[in-house]
Amino acid sequence: MTFSAQRLPQSKDDSLPQILAVAVAHLHGVIRELRPTQADWRKVIEFLTDVGHASDERRQEWVLLSDLLGASALVEEINSRRPKTATPNTVRGPFFRADVPQLALGSNISLDGIGERLEISGRVQDLDGDPVANAEIITWQANAQGFYENQQPDLQPEFNLRGFFRTDADGRFHYQTIRPCGYGVPDDGPVGKLLRQAGYPLRRPAHLHFMIKAPGFETITTHIYDGSDPHLAEDAIFGVKPELVRTFERQDERQSKGAPAWRLELTFVMVRANREPRHEPRFHL
Ligand code: BEZ
Ligand code: FE
Repeated sequence: MTFSAQRLPQSKDDSLPQILAVAVAHLHGVIRELRPTQADWRKVIEFLTDVGHASDERRQEWVLLSDLLGASALVEEINSRRPKTATPNTVRGPFFRADVPQLALGSNISLDGIGERLEISGRVQDLDGDPVANAEIITWQANAQGFYENQQPDLQPEFNLRGFFRTDADGRFHYQTIRPCGYGVPDDGPVGKLLRQAGYPLRRPAHLHFMIKAPGFETITTHIYDGSDPHLAEDAIFGVKPELVRTFERQDERQSKGAPAWRLELTFVMVRANREPRHEPRFHL
């Protein structure tokens, strides 16, 4: 029996049937190539069942699967191609929180003070180098042991290493934090266990997350990677792009006198919304 994509329902208003049609055609190709036994196929179904059971409002195992298979990065790349000089997007990942309170510029987002101090300053600008004033910057990062605040609600203060700032009239911002550490993605669920068994790299090089929003501009959701991390070439989510890698500069301890020990200067370049699409959308999304 041959199923064909054309036999599945097509709808202009809903992309899911179209996605399903193409996915089914590929799935049948996989089955013909691998010729799994009934027992093998039951294992596949059990794995997918476990992924569903591992997902709740605190943990999204399906998103983790999409991220670790590189699917999220590919969808992002197809949909947010930008001019070379603009800041590229990466995936948001599972540890983002939108409810972080706004802080004054210069605040310290390390609420427990544990880790090597890092001072971050930067500017948000458009493609012509003009400032984007009053842009919203949400940042989140792991601590010096590689854990996010919402992974350790009993060990870290709420909103530790999270900040929400607004740029000043010159598009500038600055804040204090600590140097983040690389970490392993959660591997206590079905996705991590299977991908480890399959030999996938499950490490994430040290990074900072940023989401930057301003009216009339495309939202930037991105990472900044620590250029000295030895695992840059094996990011579990395929997110490292050369334009997102930076060198953390050491501050002279004698000069800094208790001030932050590392410095990082960042520039984020936003592009105006509603540009001509750079690709033909395949589906009616
Ligand atoms: C993260 O960096 O927060 C992340 C992104 C995707 C999967 C796991 C972790
Ligand atoms: Fe992260």
